[in-house]
Amino acid sequence: MEHKGFTLWFTGLSGAGKSTLAEYVVKQLREKNMKVEVLDGDVVRTNLSKGLGFSKEDRDINIYRIGWVCEVLSRNNVVAVAAAISPYREVRDNVRKKIENFVEIYVEVPIEEVISRDVKGLYKKALAGEIKNFTGISDPYEAPENPEVVCNTAEETIEESGQKILAYLDKAGLLPS
Ligand code: ADX
Repeated sequence: MEHKGFTLWFTGLSGAGKSTLAEYVVKQLREKNMKVEVLDGDVVRTNLSKGLGFSKEDRDINIYRIGWVCEVLSRNNVVAVAAAISPYREVRDNVRKKIENFVEIYVEVPIEEVISRDVKGLYKKALAGEIKNFTGISDPYEAPENPEVVCNTAEETIEESGQKILAYLDKAGLLPS
């Protein structure tokens, strides 16, 4: 079924639930026979952005690369789903300007919550000073000012957050009828 391309851009702290939420939404979109590609930060850093670190400069390069792939996919009617911390507002907004249908999802969660989850054990190391420039601990995270959707994974289930996103897409006319 032919459908419009768009970019779903998940942003938020490490461990906020960007990948999990993206996975949920992607499954729903594929069930509607939509063409979807996922650009997950952790995966991108093993190929497209291999060798980049976490300085502002390297993060910006990483995000512009992901943004460029999203741009070319979206304009070819593919749904591009990006899930990277993407901590800098200006860079996200620059990517937004290049993409016709850019849907920003802020995965908002209190820093205390991701520290207590610490799925990858990285916050413990960051707090101990063993990882420098860690987002939310010793490096900035600039929350979006006007995201299309805000999901709070500390207060909502994945299904609730995911359904909020799907409802937005439906309202915006981005889902096939
Ligand atoms: S981004 O800032 O460039 O958007 P990206 O989403 O690709 O980040 O990668 C974030 C992941 O890298 C985190 O989930 C975490 O597993 C890992 N990581 C390693 N070092 C850092 C760091 N200094 N800050 C944030 N995440 C880090």
